[in-house]
Amino acid sequence: MTSPAALTVTETDLDTIEACTATVAVMVGPDGTLGKAARRVNRLTKGAVKRVTDSDGFAKLDEGDAIPLAFPTGMATETLLVVKLARNTAPDLARKAGASIGAAMGKTGALILATNPKRGGDMALGALLKAYKFTDHTSAGPAKEVPHVTLAVTKPEEVDAASVSALAEGVFFTRDLVTEPANILTTTEFATRLEALTALGVEVEVLDEPALEALGMRTLLAVGQGSRSPSKVVVMQWNKGVKGDAPLALVGKGVVFDTGGISIKPAAGMEDMTMDMGGAGVVAGVMKSIALRGVKANVVGLVGLVENMPDGNAIRPGDVIKSMKGDTVEIINTDAEGRMVLCDVMWYTQERFAPRGMIDLATLTGAVIIGLGHDNAGVFSNDDAFCKSFLKAAEIEGEGAWRLPLGASYDKQLKSDVADMKNVGGRPAGSITAAQYLQRFVKEGTPWIHLDIAGVAEVKAPTAMAPKGATGWGVLALNRLIDDLVVE
Ligand code: BES
Ligand code: MN
Ligand code: ZN
Repeated sequence: MTSPAALTVTETDLDTIEACTATVAVMVGPDGTLGKAARRVNRLTKGAVKRVTDSDGFAKLDEGDAIPLAFPTGMATETLLVVKLARNTAPDLARKAGASIGAAMGKTGALILATNPKRGGDMALGALLKAYKFTDHTSAGPAKEVPHVTLAVTKPEEVDAASVSALAEGVFFTRDLVTEPANILTTTEFATRLEALTALGVEVEVLDEPALEALGMRTLLAVGQGSRSPSKVVVMQWNKGVKGDAPLALVGKGVVFDTGGISIKPAAGMEDMTMDMGGAGVVAGVMKSIALRGVKANVVGLVGLVENMPDGNAIRPGDVIKSMKGDTVEIINTDAEGRMVLCDVMWYTQERFAPRGMIDLATLTGAVIIGLGHDNAGVFSNDDAFCKSFLKAAEIEGEGAWRLPLGASYDKQLKSDVADMKNVGGRPAGSITAAQYLQRFVKEGTPWIHLDIAGVAEVKAPTAMAPKGATGWGVLALNRLIDDLVVE
């Protein structure tokens, strides 16, 4: 397990800077103005900060970026970061500045000399998120100690440190789950890690194969029937909102490994399919952070945990399976398994919870990567207002999201000669036909958003708030959306 840096918010004490052994980050305005802390650091270093701000390099620096000075004279720290940031900067730039610090701080942690307490929380969050490093399976093993981040501001009471840490904890939980290989994060292990959320007050139930069979979740079970790992559905409930109010439901695709099944994937890159539980990972991360923050809302999170393997018992192309809803599905391609998992969990979610809104998350299609790349998740919805509120939350959090259309004409591509539908709609508009498939399992009157996160859950290059690898995309946006629903 990877824990974010421990965050402390204190009142700025200029006299502690000289002896600080952590990475010291000092803010300088884009025009080169030095605040109190920067002036003190400048004096200690005999004018080094001023030399930085007078340099061409500083002039060319974008806001939120930093210039590092190694082993600065007059200070105990090994690294002094001169960060270009306006006092009244925007929240996203404050996060970016924090990320610059997080990327540079390493194990020593950081002392962030922030000028504006209103932006302190964003700076700290950026620092915590960007410093993620998963070491559980290297010989070094899990980190024994977490680094410390001290955020020094004039008014510490204006920074909600607990909330920042809770969000980072949620994102790290998601990233760890996405990063874990499938031999370790089996369906059983995944369920065990979710059960641990009971310690935070989340009610967790694990439905095993006999229970799923009794519920009629045949399409979900079909996907998992070639695997040695038993299929499971985990139901997480956080009912701290108004008693009796319909919950928001989050549904996640949790394919712990996707070989493609009998329609097996090519060998090259197949190792990436350890991340095919990314949707379930985001649901887990959101449940963790809302619990840690004690959000006053009713939220349920349901994940379908399965492994898609080829085997003598595996499903084949041509098989016809009956879903929990009762609709039958002709399997054309066993690699289109995510929708078969989700459709049963979505149906169950609506039958049991009658949610006020349902959001499913899934690494569902390669086609969404062709369409949107790694910067935006595909967003599909049957409800404009609900969709807009999500897109707004995602934009504020810097989590790329782009709405794509649904429509009856696409739905025709799913027509089957032997069953109610096929599980694939051919190559054209592959992400849309996948969404159309899912929409057949959304009840009339349930506001619904489908997030295809295949391109954003894990990436090969660093992003603004994460090193390369698992991003935790969506955890922040969904936390914000949930907060917005509470205020309403
Ligand atoms: N898990 C994959 C989608 C995926 C691809 C996720 C790349 C992350 C990165 C999904 O189960 C899948 O295999 N989809 C197929 C659907 C096709 C058979 C209709 C695809 O996208 O090729
Ligand atoms: Mn697949
Ligand atoms: Zn898949």
